[in-house]
Amino acid sequence: MCGIIGVVRKSGNAAEEVFQGLLRLEYRGYDSAGMSALDGGKICTVKRGGRVSNLMPEAERLKGSTAIGHTRWATHGEPNDTNAHPHCSGKFSVVHNGIIENYRQLKEELSDGGATFASDTDSEVIVKLIDFYYKGDALKAVARAAARLQGSFALGVLCADREGIIAVKYKSPAVVGFDGNGAVLCSDIPALPASVTSVCVPEDGDIAEITAETVTFYDSKLTPVNRVRRPIFPEQFTLGQGGYPHYMIKEIHEAERTVAETCGGFFRNVDVKRLTEYVRGADRIIITGCGTAYNAGLAAKSYFTEKCGVFCQVEIASELRYSPPKVTPATLVIAVTQSGETADTIEAVSALKRAGARVVAVTNCGYSQITRVAHLVVPVCAGAEVCVAATKSYIGQLAALYLMAKLTEDLFTAQEELTLAGAGIGELLKSEANAEEIARQCAKSSAVFFLGRGLDYAVAVEASLKLKEVSYVFSDGYPAGELKHGTLALIDENTLSVVVICNPALAEKCCNAVSQIISRRGKVAVITCLADVAEKLKASAAVWLLPQCSAVLSPFVSAVALQLVAYKTAVLLGRDPDKPRNLAKSVTVE
Ligand code: AGP
Repeated sequence: MCGIIGVVRKSGNAAEEVFQGLLRLEYRGYDSAGMSALDGGKICTVKRGGRVSNLMPEAERLKGSTAIGHTRWATHGEPNDTNAHPHCSGKFSVVHNGIIENYRQLKEELSDGGATFASDTDSEVIVKLIDFYYKGDALKAVARAAARLQGSFALGVLCADREGIIAVKYKSPAVVGFDGNGAVLCSDIPALPASVTSVCVPEDGDIAEITAETVTFYDSKLTPVNRVRRPIFPEQFTLGQGGYPHYMIKEIHEAERTVAETCGGFFRNVDVKRLTEYVRGADRIIITGCGTAYNAGLAAKSYFTEKCGVFCQVEIASELRYSPPKVTPATLVIAVTQSGETADTIEAVSALKRAGARVVAVTNCGYSQITRVAHLVVPVCAGAEVCVAATKSYIGQLAALYLMAKLTEDLFTAQEELTLAGAGIGELLKSEANAEEIARQCAKSSAVFFLGRGLDYAVAVEASLKLKEVSYVFSDGYPAGELKHGTLALIDENTLSVVVICNPALAEKCCNAVSQIISRRGKVAVITCLADVAEKLKASAAVWLLPQCSAVLSPFVSAVALQLVAYKTAVLLGRDPDKPRNLAKSVTVE
């Protein structure tokens, strides 16, 4: 949801580093990009619609020891050169991530005072406001402007009259990283340059004065505040595509390792005693998240219901926040979020926490916003996930949630089971021929439906999201039992139904669904761990027999199989699976 970066250097060209940083941040949005550099008291700006690479060759001409940059996911105004950030006015240049909810009112007020606006964005009011309040002290002008803004905002501000950057953080993510040559403001830790060895995470409302020598944090009233500087360690997972053609396929291949690392992280970093008290003491569990994270919750619902025997519900965070249920200290709320920055999830669980519930965050990003909201954090150790489509992080979420559900039983067997599930993924990834065959069918179908029962239903919903997100083929995921209640009307010879059958107890009923679809001349592909089901259906459908796996752990294998199908369909159709149109990696606006 837009990425911002700012670099202040003792020596060297900050603009060059900002450009490299924007390439790393592109997963946060890729509708347009821009940068400003401060050189000898003069600000030079380059901005373009489209990808960061469009800034070349002009970006190469920018020089200076201070620079800011932005890669945009458009909320207000179409993605073109004019609406691209930075926005400039007078002596200022500003990059913004977030949404200014009161921008219309501010725009009107500033226009009445004579200001003119070039763009259709909400963000331009910020720079106009700062310029309006500027009477020679940039820090004061930024603080006064920030106090007028409603919504969410992480800002990087350049002023031609002073070296350095002024940053503001409110609800949108921002970190300040340090190395021996100055400081870097950035939306996310993984996008910081490799030279950075420590970070400060500002609190909401903080304003930071960033120079090459020092970084000073203030609260919104400009009283200095202390923010802890913590070391960061090089990623265990290598960044870069590692020889794979796309991040998506690289990250699918990191799923087995993610399961192992997530188990390790659970035993090393989680306060297991307290977490056990939370889980055992819960009379009700509410799992919430968005997109893939919500879908991981759908699978985990079975884990908690079966293993803990406790009532468990799964709620879409953007809905939950507007209809919060009554909670007590015995209500355990589990927020699932890869980025830890998803605004809908943070708002939903913050409200439930205020109402008295216990909150546990399952996240791939330490230091993220959700870690400050939750009472306890369960890490997903997937390493940086660059592809917009969540793959390995979903598998890591399943592992973390499975371990939590097993807290009432036996953690040791849980670890053994997860090792087997990881091995199943490794085995599956040795051959991709079946995925290719199903992908060819997906690519030529007018619609692809994913069906399953129980845990297979949870996998079907996630498979559908993955396929539509990266290939743009119309798709839906639904419980197999619902077929006859409506979706059957859509089945014809141009549609493909992918039926997931990994639970022997429900297999017969799913086979009935296959027959019903074939009778309507619909095409069918079957994903199964069960040899007898494969044998039975191989004459009438494309069947992919997965490595053997217990029903409860089958999502680890079947979901990865369907991630592969989505990836291969996207490639066949010439899509960029890493950067699907209109989407961004972390959704920090509501
Ligand atoms: C997954 O492929 C999607 N890109 C999206 O649904 C994502 O899972 C969702 O936006 C939630 O993100 P989070 O896990 O970072 O909260």
